[in-house]
Amino acid sequence: MILIDGKKEAAELREKLKKEVLELKSKYNKVPGLTVILIGELAPSKIYVKNKEKSANEVGLKSEVIRYPETVDEKTVLNKIEELNNDENVSGILVQLPLPKHIDKQKVIEKILPSKDVDGFHPTNVGNLSSGYESSVPCTPLGCYLLIKKIEPNLNGKKAVVVGRSNLNGKPMTQLLLKENCTVTITHSKTKDLKSECLKGDIIVAAVGIPELVKGDWVKKDAIVIDVGINKTDKGIVGDVAFKEVSKNAKALTPVPGGVGPMTIACLLKNTIECFKRVQK
Ligand code: GUN
Repeated sequence: MILIDGKKEAAELREKLKKEVLELKSKYNKVPGLTVILIGELAPSKIYVKNKEKSANEVGLKSEVIRYPETVDEKTVLNKIEELNNDENVSGILVQLPLPKHIDKQKVIEKILPSKDVDGFHPTNVGNLSSGYESSVPCTPLGCYLLIKKIEPNLNGKKAVVVGRSNLNGKPMTQLLLKENCTVTITHSKTKDLKSECLKGDIIVAAVGIPELVKGDWVKKDAIVIDVGINKTDKGIVGDVAFKEVSKNAKALTPVPGGVGPMTIACLLKNTIECFKRVQK
């Protein structure tokens, strides 16, 4: 079984991006800039944002974090996004989710210029991705996609099963696999006989948020299994895949942690650079 080393793959991608930033710097005399807005004090969000800032600096991007207290009003956030939209030094804008209840998530997402939407959450980018046009692609599914392609460069005609239908992961993941000519089945927590659906998959991407849902006998021999889950349990952090059992059948499997997670942040940097390049054209 191939244990997919997300840390190593992400480090390789960052190395490539670092070189690209240097080239862009010599060509345009400026570097791409990423601005993250963090609202409130949620510990996981604070950790993610710290890692994003660290990685951005590591590859030579300009990076800035704007912090607001939990009580900030929606208007203040929307006005700040407007200001960042108009700032030519800002290539990419990311508002860390989740947001406090009094702030309308969709309003915030739609306020970000599609050309600076490094998350790929704006309806324009969602639509462009599903129509097969150029767009920002959400970072986590993009990371999964790159890991899958590394194991199997030709996905033509493969059967892929996506477990989970979120806007963040399941839906964009489906679009990326479709573009690669996979036959994709989208499943979710209400799917009947999920086991028999999963057993059809040459590729399984689990992004449903249910600890160790995908069992060893749900996976056909030689499947590629990507685990997006991060679930806090009594046993500690586990994925959506029963790792030990599945590792006996799968051809390749991502661990949690150290699989998809590191790729997500590297793909955010990649998206920031792509946004920068698109406006230089
Ligand atoms: N919170 C958890 N994951 C994400 C993500 O990919 N983007 C944003 N903006 N917030 C998140």
